[in-house]
Amino acid sequence: MKMWAGRFKKETDKKVNDFNSSISFDMRLFKEDIMGSIAHSTMLCSKGIITEKEKEEIQTCLNDILSELLNGDAILSPDCEDIHMNIEQLLTERIGTAGKKLHTARSRNDQVALDIRIYQKSEILEIISLIKNLINEILALATANTSTVMPGYTHLQRAQPITFAHHILAYAQMLRRDITRLYDCYDRTDEMPLGSGALATTTYDIDRMQVANLLGFKDITKNSLDGVSDRDFIIELLSDISIIMVHLSRFSEEIIFWCSWECKFIELDDAYSTGSSIMPQKKNPDIPELVRGKSGRVFGSLISILTTMKGLPLAYNKDMQEDKEALFNAIDTVKLCLEVFAPMLKTITINKDRMLLAAGEGFINATDCADYLVKKGLAFRDAYKITGELVALCIENKFTLNTLPLADYKAKCEVFDEDIYDAVNLQNCVNERKVIGGPSKSAVLNQIADLQDFIKHLK
Ligand code: ARG
Repeated sequence: MKMWAGRFKKETDKKVNDFNSSISFDMRLFKEDIMGSIAHSTMLCSKGIITEKEKEEIQTCLNDILSELLNGDAILSPDCEDIHMNIEQLLTERIGTAGKKLHTARSRNDQVALDIRIYQKSEILEIISLIKNLINEILALATANTSTVMPGYTHLQRAQPITFAHHILAYAQMLRRDITRLYDCYDRTDEMPLGSGALATTTYDIDRMQVANLLGFKDITKNSLDGVSDRDFIIELLSDISIIMVHLSRFSEEIIFWCSWECKFIELDDAYSTGSSIMPQKKNPDIPELVRGKSGRVFGSLISILTTMKGLPLAYNKDMQEDKEALFNAIDTVKLCLEVFAPMLKTITINKDRMLLAAGEGFINATDCADYLVKKGLAFRDAYKITGELVALCIENKFTLNTLPLADYKAKCEVFDEDIYDAVNLQNCVNERKVIGGPSKSAVLNQIADLQDFIKHLK
């Protein structure tokens, strides 16, 4: 029989019962639900709303239910709709009247808001720690490759020389921002909604701050309607996770490109690659491809919750039950991706020779040639034009700027001298870019130290 049977003359339709039920997915919140109920009953007792004995009975039984759920022994029923009613039902079956008192001054509306916030807070910290691991792998790889010259690209055309360290550190910077965004989201998730009741609080003299303190929340929500109907914190986390997935997806795309026969800049370890069922020679980068692909479902979760919330009147509406699957799916996905990404990176092989070879083609030192002339007194636009003509000459006669004879240089502009070969040497082109944020070894070492410092000072 349903909890609300008193008001109803008919049983719920079987299909409606299944349609309405969320236990198949919100059972994931059982720990959070029990933690919340234990704190709520402690508060009810200290405010004299239930007795000490009733509190003891409730809490002992809730702890038993918790261990049974952890062991997989407790049976949850789809007839009890959701995790909140299932646990209350188990409690009441076992201890009778005291169990029936637990829901005093509480509604499922503030209860579910509380459970999700507790859950989300702990998941945010787990995601942060996984990102931290990934940044550490990038830092290790970067430290070993501060002199590994490779072409930097714009429009996927070779543009200017950089190092592999510099390139991958760009992703460490993105991930660093992801961590700070997650901390911001944690801060806004860290408000305790219980006591909002169904929508208009309660006439009991409750102590919301006590519940917040017991559950480790820094503050309480400030408006009961908002307390039960706010899902901004979920939208915010899904936005943050979507941005993380954009970063992982871009990184994946580059890894896939670097693994191609066209590049062969890196090779993934056998343990992080797959073969083909028909082509015996194939070694496919399925892992980064899947990470790139899975970004789609995360963006889907974000769009789904945005659409669900748009236009909902205050306060609670059942539409909001749709928040959880989207949230769970996005969290599971990003954790999975981060978990495979870090060891995949740790085990890659770097083909420094292939990178250098690629850097040697495509005239990526042309800007340096122009800058050489500027340093000898020419205006940049004139230097740019002369260098363009030299590149055309090289293409015509199959030279590079490093092999073009000095006589050809001088024929275009008198100020060229032997030192042009130092100026267009790739290693020099990189190491002369000493500006903060640049690819020179010294700038990259500073960048690494700064990121290490960031990681060290994380809460
Ligand atoms: N299962 C519901 C949810 O996830 C819990 C709150 C239900 N409240 C209600 N008045 N029907 O949103």
